[in-house]
Amino acid sequence: MTVHFIGAGPGAPDLLTLRGRDLIAACPVCLFAGSLVPEAVLAHCPPGARIVNTAPLSLDRIIAEIADAHAAGQDVARLHSGDVSVWSAMGEQLRRLRALDIPCSVTPGVPAFAAAAAALGAELTLPGLAQSVVLTRTPGRASAMPAGETLTAFGATGATLAIHLSIHNLPRVVADLTPAYGPDCPVAVVWRASWPDQRILRATLATIESEVAESMERTALILVGRALAAEGFAESCLYAPDYDRRFRPARADGDA
Ligand SMILES: C[S@@+](CC[C@H](N)C(=O)[O-])C[C@H]1O[C@@H](n2cnc3c(N)ncnc32)[C@H](O)[C@@H]1O
Repeated sequence: MTVHFIGAGPGAPDLLTLRGRDLIAACPVCLFAGSLVPEAVLAHCPPGARIVNTAPLSLDRIIAEIADAHAAGQDVARLHSGDVSVWSAMGEQLRRLRALDIPCSVTPGVPAFAAAAAALGAELTLPGLAQSVVLTRTPGRASAMPAGETLTAFGATGATLAIHLSIHNLPRVVADLTPAYGPDCPVAVVWRASWPDQRILRATLATIESEVAESMERTALILVGRALAAEGFAESCLYAPDYDRRFRPARADGDA
């Protein structure tokens, strides 16, 4: 018996890995984080599967569900939105399951920031402008931020920021980032990326607050950085004709 932690993707049911889909189809028990995992993903469960929404459950209850499946020798598909490596609460579940000697596997998923970038048709790392993407959040009711992980600190790098769990904190995001990025810095808010009702807003740090509708709550990502609206960036060396690299020696183009 194994508990398979599976990244269920950002929302669209076809943005799930083939491995994730096949594991869901093979497990007689499925626990899903119902606040974000779309019901459509559950269509991959086998007929008669025990399907449990864990949104209203405590960690103790979730582990009890898994322990019951373990006792019955039944594999479990444990679904979290996006990818399981960020903000999934997988860490605490893995720790408990390891203590109980229950075998686990982890299957990655498409994270929300990648779905949002796809919706924007944007590369978040452009030559000379941004070569790092910071996945971060602002403090929430249940989660304080470690002392060094402030937007001001990340903003000092000039990296592209993908700010999660923070649409309700937009005034603070704008106030913290404007000194480093400038009021004209491009901002995008992608609400429910990849869902049928996805919405995209493009603005600047100066204008974003007045653009965001109240209805764009919870499942929204805020992207900030110069790479978001740049046209005048340099091309990378990767495909330059005179750039010699292992897979395409300059000689091969006749330019050596
Ligand atoms: C608990 S975190 C889960 C992150 C997830 N594990 C991932 O890999 O993206 C939830 C936050 O992710 C972002 N998010 C998740 N799905 C999203 C989507 N489809 N569109 C926009 N933002 C999304 C929002 O910022 C939301 O508040």
